[in-house]
Amino acid sequence: MNAKIVLLPGDGIGPEVVNEARLVLDAVAQLFGHTFAYTTHLLGGCAIDATGSAMPDATLAACKASHAVLLGAVGGPKWDDPQSPVRPEQGLLAIRKGLGLYANLRPVKAIPALAKLSPLKPERVAGVDFLVIRELTGGLYFGQPKGRTMTPEGERAVDTLVYTEVEIRRIVRLAFELARGRRKQVTSIDKANVLESSRLWRKIANEIGKEFPDVKLDHQLVDSAAMRLITHAAQFDVIVTENMFGDILTDEAAVLVGSLGLLPSASLGEGKLGLYEPIHGSAPDIAGKGIANPTGTILSAAMLLRHSLGLEAEAKAIEAAVSSAIDDGKHTADLGAASPINTTQMGAAIRERLKR
Ligand code: IPM
Ligand code: MG
Repeated sequence: MNAKIVLLPGDGIGPEVVNEARLVLDAVAQLFGHTFAYTTHLLGGCAIDATGSAMPDATLAACKASHAVLLGAVGGPKWDDPQSPVRPEQGLLAIRKGLGLYANLRPVKAIPALAKLSPLKPERVAGVDFLVIRELTGGLYFGQPKGRTMTPEGERAVDTLVYTEVEIRRIVRLAFELARGRRKQVTSIDKANVLESSRLWRKIANEIGKEFPDVKLDHQLVDSAAMRLITHAAQFDVIVTENMFGDILTDEAAVLVGSLGLLPSASLGEGKLGLYEPIHGSAPDIAGKGIANPTGTILSAAMLLRHSLGLEAEAKAIEAAVSSAIDDGKHTADLGAASPINTTQMGAAIRERLKR
Protein backbone atom coordinates (compact mmCIF):
# COMPACT_ATOMS: atom_id res chain seq x y z
CA MET A 1 0.00 0.00 0.00
CA ASN A 2 0.96 3.66 -0.37
CA ALA A 3 0.64 5.79 2.74
CA LYS A 4 1.42 9.38 3.61
CA ILE A 5 2.89 9.69 7.09
CA VAL A 6 3.56 12.99 8.84
CA LEU A 7 6.49 13.02 11.27
CA LEU A 8 6.40 15.51 14.15
CA PRO A 9 9.74 14.94 15.91
CA GLY A 10 9.13 17.84 18.33
CA ASP A 11 11.58 18.63 21.11
CA GLY A 12 14.19 16.98 23.36
CA ILE A 13 14.69 13.31 22.55
CA GLY A 14 11.74 13.43 20.11
CA PRO A 15 13.87 13.68 16.93
CA GLU A 16 16.17 10.84 18.05
CA VAL A 17 13.39 8.36 18.77
CA VAL A 18 11.25 9.32 15.76
CA ASN A 19 14.24 8.75 13.50
CA GLU A 20 14.58 5.16 14.75
CA ALA A 21 10.86 4.52 14.35
CA ARG A 22 11.01 5.81 10.80
CA LEU A 23 13.88 3.45 9.99
CA VAL A 24 11.78 0.58 11.37
CA LEU A 25 8.82 1.66 9.23
CA ASP A 26 11.14 1.75 6.20
CA ALA A 27 12.32 -1.77 6.97
CA VAL A 28 8.70 -2.94 7.28
CA ALA A 29 7.82 -1.25 3.98
CA GLN A 30 10.65 -3.07 2.24
CA LEU A 31 9.84 -6.42 3.82
CA PHE A 32 6.12 -6.30 3.06
CA GLY A 33 6.18 -4.31 -0.20
CA HIS A 34 4.65 -1.00 0.89
CA THR A 35 5.56 2.60 0.12
CA PHE A 36 5.50 5.11 2.94
CA ALA A 37 6.05 8.77 2.02
CA TYR A 38 7.04 11.05 4.92
CA THR A 39 6.90 14.77 5.49
CA THR A 40 8.29 16.37 8.62
CA HIS A 41 6.58 19.29 10.39
CA LEU A 42 6.98 21.47 13.44
CA LEU A 43 5.13 21.04 16.73
CA GLY A 44 5.86 22.24 20.25
CA GLY A 45 8.88 24.27 21.36
CA CYS A 46 10.67 24.03 18.00
CA ALA A 47 7.53 25.40 16.34
CA ILE A 48 7.37 28.29 18.82
CA ASP A 49 10.99 29.16 18.03
CA ALA A 50 10.45 29.04 14.28
CA THR A 51 6.95 30.51 13.94
CA GLY A 52 5.76 31.85 17.31
CA SER A 53 3.00 29.25 17.44
CA ALA A 54 3.14 25.81 19.13
CA MET A 55 1.04 24.35 16.32
CA PRO A 56 1.51 26.22 13.03
CA ASP A 57 -1.39 26.02 10.54
CA ALA A 58 0.86 24.22 8.07
CA THR A 59 1.35 21.40 10.57
CA LEU A 60 -2.37 20.85 11.11
CA ALA A 61 -3.05 21.02 7.36
CA ALA A 62 -0.34 18.44 6.62
CA CYS A 63 -1.69 16.10 9.32
CA LYS A 64 -5.23 16.40 7.96
CA ALA A 65 -3.96 15.45 4.49
CA SER A 66 -2.07 12.38 5.77
CA HIS A 67 -3.00 8.81 6.67
CA ALA A 68 -1.24 8.94 10.03
CA VAL A 69 0.96 11.08 12.25
CA LEU A 70 3.98 9.94 14.27
CA LEU A 71 4.98 12.29 17.08
CA GLY A 72 8.09 12.29 19.28
CA ALA A 73 7.61 14.60 22.26
CA VAL A 74 7.12 18.29 22.99
CA GLY A 75 8.40 20.63 25.70
CA GLY A 76 11.57 21.46 27.60
CA PRO A 77 13.04 23.89 30.12
CA LYS A 78 13.65 26.48 27.41
CA TRP A 79 9.90 27.07 27.08
CA ASP A 80 8.90 26.46 30.70
CA ASP A 81 8.39 30.07 31.81
CA PRO A 82 4.93 30.02 33.46
CA GLN A 83 4.41 33.65 32.39
CA SER A 84 4.88 32.79 28.73
CA PRO A 85 1.68 33.10 26.67
CA VAL A 86 2.67 30.20 24.38
CA ARG A 87 3.76 26.80 25.64
CA PRO A 88 4.80 23.66 23.73
CA GLU A 89 2.06 21.58 25.40
CA GLN A 90 -0.55 23.81 23.76
CA GLY A 91 0.64 22.41 20.44
CA LEU A 92 -0.10 18.88 21.59
CA LEU A 93 -3.56 19.76 22.89
CA ALA A 94 -4.33 21.78 19.74
CA ILE A 95 -3.37 18.98 17.40
CA ARG A 96 -5.43 16.41 19.33
CA LYS A 97 -8.42 18.71 19.25
CA GLY A 98 -7.78 19.91 15.68
CA LEU A 99 -7.75 16.34 14.38
CA GLY A 100 -10.74 15.31 16.52
CA LEU A 101 -8.75 12.58 18.28
CA TYR A 102 -10.96 11.86 21.25
CA ALA A 103 -9.68 8.40 22.15
CA ASN A 104 -6.23 7.82 23.58
CA LEU A 105 -5.22 4.15 23.76
CA ARG A 106 -2.40 3.28 26.13
CA PRO A 107 -1.65 -0.44 26.33
CA VAL A 108 0.34 -1.63 29.34
CA LYS A 109 1.83 -5.10 29.26
CA ALA A 110 4.43 -6.53 31.61
CA ILE A 111 7.55 -7.92 29.95
CA PRO A 112 8.79 -10.93 31.96
CA ALA A 113 12.46 -10.27 31.05
CA LEU A 114 12.18 -6.81 32.63
CA ALA A 115 10.21 -7.76 35.75
CA LYS A 116 13.18 -6.77 37.95
CA LEU A 117 12.87 -3.15 36.76
CA SER A 118 9.47 -2.69 38.31
CA PRO A 119 9.46 -1.14 41.77
CA LEU A 120 6.72 -3.65 42.61
CA LYS A 121 7.19 -7.24 43.74
CA PRO A 122 7.33 -9.60 40.73
CA GLU A 123 4.09 -11.36 41.76
CA ARG A 124 2.19 -8.06 41.55
CA VAL A 125 3.44 -7.40 38.01
CA ALA A 126 3.08 -10.94 36.62
CA GLY A 127 0.34 -11.17 34.03
CA VAL A 128 -0.30 -7.44 33.78
CA ASP A 129 -1.89 -6.79 30.38
CA PHE A 130 -4.42 -4.00 30.13
CA LEU A 131 -5.45 -1.20 27.83
CA VAL A 132 -6.30 2.26 29.13
CA ILE A 133 -8.68 4.26 26.96
CA ARG A 134 -8.42 7.86 28.00
CA GLU A 135 -10.93 10.43 26.73
CA LEU A 136 -8.72 13.05 25.09
CA THR A 137 -10.65 16.09 23.86
CA GLY A 138 -13.03 16.85 26.73
CA GLY A 139 -13.10 17.31 30.47
CA LEU A 140 -10.90 19.68 32.43
CA TYR A 141 -8.43 20.14 29.60
CA PHE A 142 -10.89 21.91 27.33
CA GLY A 143 -13.98 22.83 29.39
CA GLN A 144 -15.17 26.42 29.45
CA PRO A 145 -15.04 28.65 31.38
CA LYS A 146 -11.31 28.44 31.91
CA GLY A 147 -9.01 31.24 32.98
CA ARG A 148 -7.91 33.69 35.63
CA THR A 149 -9.47 36.87 36.85
CA MET A 150 -8.58 39.44 39.48
CA THR A 151 -11.03 39.85 42.34
CA PRO A 152 -10.88 42.26 45.30
CA GLU A 153 -9.61 39.33 47.43
CA GLY A 154 -6.91 38.34 44.96
CA GLU A 155 -6.66 36.18 41.86
CA ARG A 156 -9.23 33.52 41.00
CA ALA A 157 -8.65 30.62 38.60
CA VAL A 158 -11.19 28.27 37.06
CA ASP A 159 -11.13 25.06 35.01
CA THR A 160 -14.34 23.31 34.06
CA LEU A 161 -14.98 19.56 34.03
CA VAL A 162 -17.69 19.15 31.42
CA TYR A 163 -18.83 16.12 29.42
CA THR A 164 -21.72 15.69 27.06
CA GLU A 165 -23.60 12.46 26.56
CA VAL A 166 -22.28 12.25 23.00
CA GLU A 167 -18.66 12.50 24.16
CA ILE A 168 -19.13 9.81 26.80
CA ARG A 169 -21.06 7.49 24.51
CA ARG A 170 -18.45 7.35 21.76
CA ILE A 171 -15.48 6.70 24.06
CA VAL A 172 -17.27 4.10 26.17
CA ARG A 173 -18.52 2.32 23.05
CA LEU A 174 -14.95 2.12 21.75
CA ALA A 175 -13.91 0.55 25.06
CA PHE A 176 -16.53 -2.17 24.69
CA GLU A 177 -15.62 -2.81 21.07
CA LEU A 178 -11.94 -3.20 21.91
CA ALA A 179 -12.75 -5.36 24.94
CA ARG A 180 -14.44 -7.84 22.58
CA GLY A 181 -11.04 -8.49 21.01
CA ARG A 182 -9.48 -9.00 24.46
CA ARG A 183 -10.68 -10.54 27.74
CA LYS A 184 -14.14 -8.94 27.49
CA GLN A 185 -14.00 -6.87 30.63
CA VAL A 186 -14.44 -3.08 30.86
CA THR A 187 -13.66 -1.08 33.98
CA SER A 188 -15.08 2.43 33.86
CA ILE A 189 -13.27 4.75 36.26
CA ASP A 190 -14.96 7.87 37.63
CA LYS A 191 -15.63 9.86 40.78
CA ALA A 192 -19.38 9.37 40.82
CA ASN A 193 -19.59 9.81 44.60
CA VAL A 194 -18.68 13.48 44.14
CA LEU A 195 -18.80 14.67 40.53
CA GLU A 196 -21.94 15.26 38.48
CA SER A 197 -20.02 14.65 35.25
CA SER A 198 -19.04 11.23 36.64
CA ARG A 199 -22.65 10.38 37.44
CA LEU A 200 -23.59 11.08 33.82
CA TRP A 201 -20.56 9.07 32.71
CA ARG A 202 -21.68 6.08 34.81
CA LYS A 203 -25.25 6.23 33.56
CA ILE A 204 -24.15 6.26 29.92
CA ALA A 205 -21.61 3.49 30.54
CA ASN A 206 -24.40 1.31 31.96
CA GLU A 207 -26.57 2.03 28.92
CA ILE A 208 -23.82 1.12 26.47
CA GLY A 209 -23.05 -1.95 28.56
CA LYS A 210 -26.53 -3.32 27.76
CA GLU A 211 -25.59 -3.30 24.06
CA PHE A 212 -22.63 -5.57 24.86
CA PRO A 213 -24.05 -8.38 27.03
CA ASP A 214 -20.97 -10.50 26.30
CA VAL A 215 -18.67 -7.93 27.94
CA LYS A 216 -18.51 -7.54 31.71
CA LEU A 217 -18.69 -3.95 33.00
CA ASP A 218 -17.65 -2.72 36.39
CA HIS A 219 -17.26 0.78 37.83
CA GLN A 220 -14.48 1.92 40.11
CA LEU A 221 -13.88 5.22 41.83
CA VAL A 222 -10.67 6.81 40.68
CA ASP A 223 -9.04 6.91 44.10
CA SER A 224 -9.46 3.22 44.79
CA ALA A 225 -8.67 2.39 41.16
CA ALA A 226 -5.33 4.18 41.62
CA MET A 227 -4.67 1.83 44.52
CA ARG A 228 -5.81 -1.31 42.69
CA LEU A 229 -3.49 -0.46 39.80
CA ILE A 230 -0.68 -1.16 42.23
CA THR A 231 -2.18 -3.97 44.28
CA HIS A 232 -4.18 -5.91 41.64
CA ALA A 233 -3.05 -4.64 38.23
CA ALA A 234 -3.39 -8.02 36.54
CA GLN A 235 -7.16 -7.91 37.11
CA PHE A 236 -7.70 -5.08 34.63
CA ASP A 237 -8.47 -5.67 30.97
CA VAL A 238 -9.89 -2.48 29.39
CA ILE A 239 -10.04 0.71 31.45
CA VAL A 240 -12.06 3.67 30.18
CA THR A 241 -11.93 7.05 31.87
CA GLU A 242 -12.10 10.80 31.46
CA ASN A 243 -9.20 12.94 30.28
CA MET A 244 -7.50 14.02 33.51
CA PHE A 245 -8.03 10.74 35.40
CA GLY A 246 -6.56 8.97 32.37
CA ASP A 247 -3.57 11.29 32.29
CA ILE A 248 -2.74 10.55 35.91
CA LEU A 249 -3.51 6.83 35.89
CA THR A 250 -1.42 6.14 32.78
CA ASP A 251 1.73 7.61 34.30
CA GLU A 252 1.06 5.44 37.33
CA ALA A 253 0.44 2.41 35.12
CA ALA A 254 3.68 2.98 33.23
CA VAL A 255 5.64 2.34 36.40
CA LEU A 256 4.36 -1.24 36.50
CA VAL A 257 6.31 -2.14 33.39
CA GLY A 258 9.53 -0.62 34.67
CA SER A 259 10.34 2.06 32.12
CA LEU A 260 8.34 4.86 30.56
CA GLY A 261 10.55 4.38 27.52
CA LEU A 262 8.72 1.22 26.50
CA LEU A 263 5.15 2.39 26.23
CA PRO A 264 3.33 3.47 23.07
CA SER A 265 0.05 5.27 22.54
CA ALA A 266 -2.48 5.90 19.81
CA SER A 267 -4.94 8.77 19.56
CA LEU A 268 -7.94 8.05 17.37
CA GLY A 269 -11.06 9.83 16.15
CA GLU A 270 -13.96 9.02 13.85
CA GLY A 271 -11.96 8.13 10.74
CA LYS A 272 -8.76 6.16 10.24
CA LEU A 273 -6.42 9.11 10.79
CA GLY A 274 -4.55 8.75 14.04
CA LEU A 275 -1.69 10.30 16.00
CA TYR A 276 0.88 7.97 17.52
CA GLU A 277 3.38 8.89 20.21
CA PRO A 278 5.38 7.30 23.00
CA ILE A 279 3.98 8.12 26.41
CA HIS A 280 7.30 9.43 27.70
CA GLY A 281 8.04 13.13 27.37
CA SER A 282 10.90 15.07 25.80
CA ALA A 283 13.42 14.03 28.53
CA PRO A 284 15.56 17.19 28.23
CA ASP A 285 18.15 15.75 30.63
CA ILE A 286 19.23 13.13 28.09
CA ALA A 287 18.33 14.92 24.83
CA GLY A 288 21.06 14.93 22.20
CA LYS A 289 23.07 12.21 23.96
CA GLY A 290 21.81 9.41 21.74
CA ILE A 291 20.89 7.21 24.71
CA ALA A 292 17.08 7.48 24.75
CA ASN A 293 15.08 4.28 24.40
CA PRO A 294 13.30 4.36 21.01
CA THR A 295 11.08 1.37 21.89
CA GLY A 296 7.99 3.37 22.90
CA THR A 297 8.07 5.22 19.58
CA ILE A 298 8.75 2.06 17.59
CA LEU A 299 5.79 0.35 19.29
CA SER A 300 3.74 3.48 18.51
CA ALA A 301 4.67 2.96 14.85
CA ALA A 302 3.29 -0.58 15.19
CA MET A 303 0.01 0.87 16.49
CA LEU A 304 0.03 3.27 13.52
CA LEU A 305 0.23 0.34 11.12
CA ARG A 306 -2.57 -1.47 12.96
CA HIS A 307 -5.09 1.33 13.55
CA SER A 308 -4.55 3.79 10.69
CA LEU A 309 -3.28 1.57 7.89
CA GLY A 310 -4.99 -1.71 8.77
CA LEU A 311 -1.66 -3.58 8.55
CA GLU A 312 -2.05 -6.07 11.41
CA ALA A 313 0.64 -8.55 10.30
CA GLU A 314 3.12 -5.71 9.93
CA ALA A 315 2.23 -4.34 13.39
CA LYS A 316 2.71 -7.80 14.91
CA ALA A 317 6.05 -8.13 13.14
CA ILE A 318 7.32 -5.00 14.88
CA GLU A 319 5.98 -6.12 18.26
CA ALA A 320 7.62 -9.52 17.87
CA ALA A 321 10.93 -7.91 16.88
CA VAL A 322 10.80 -5.65 19.95
CA SER A 323 10.10 -8.60 22.25
CA SER A 324 12.89 -10.66 20.81
CA ALA A 325 15.40 -7.78 21.02
CA ILE A 326 14.53 -7.25 24.69
CA ASP A 327 14.62 -11.00 25.41
CA ASP A 328 18.07 -11.15 23.77
CA GLY A 329 19.33 -8.59 26.29
CA LYS A 330 19.35 -5.59 23.96
CA HIS A 331 18.73 -2.95 26.62
CA THR A 332 19.13 0.82 26.67
CA ALA A 333 20.22 2.62 29.85
CA ASP A 334 16.67 3.07 31.18
CA LEU A 335 16.30 -0.73 31.20
CA GLY A 336 18.97 -1.05 33.85
CA ALA A 337 21.62 -2.66 31.64
CA ALA A 338 25.16 -2.83 33.05
CA SER A 339 26.57 -1.95 29.62
CA PRO A 340 23.62 -0.35 27.84
CA ILE A 341 23.29 0.05 24.09
CA ASN A 342 22.40 3.43 22.60
CA THR A 343 19.37 4.68 20.67
CA THR A 344 20.58 3.73 17.19
CA GLN A 345 21.84 0.33 18.36
CA MET A 346 18.43 -0.41 19.91
CA GLY A 347 16.73 0.61 16.66
CA ALA A 348 19.10 -1.58 14.66
CA ALA A 349 18.59 -4.54 17.01
CA ILE A 350 14.85 -4.30 16.44
CA ARG A 351 15.17 -3.93 12.64
CA GLU A 352 17.47 -6.96 12.44
CA ARG A 353 14.79 -9.08 14.08
CA LEU A 354 11.93 -8.07 11.78
CA LYS A 355 10.48 -11.06 9.95
CA ARG A 356 7.52 -11.56 7.68
C1 IPM B 1 0.25 13.18 28.15
C2 IPM B 1 0.92 14.44 28.62
C3 IPM B 1 0.13 15.64 28.11
C4 IPM B 1 -1.27 15.54 28.68
C5 IPM B 1 0.75 17.00 28.44
C6 IPM B 1 2.18 17.10 27.92
C7 IPM B 1 -0.07 18.13 27.92
O1 IPM B 1 1.04 14.45 30.00
O2 IPM B 1 0.14 13.00 26.93
O3 IPM B 1 -0.15 12.38 28.99
O4 IPM B 1 -1.50 15.95 29.82
O5 IPM B 1 -2.15 15.04 27.98
MG1 MG C 1 0.44 12.63 30.92
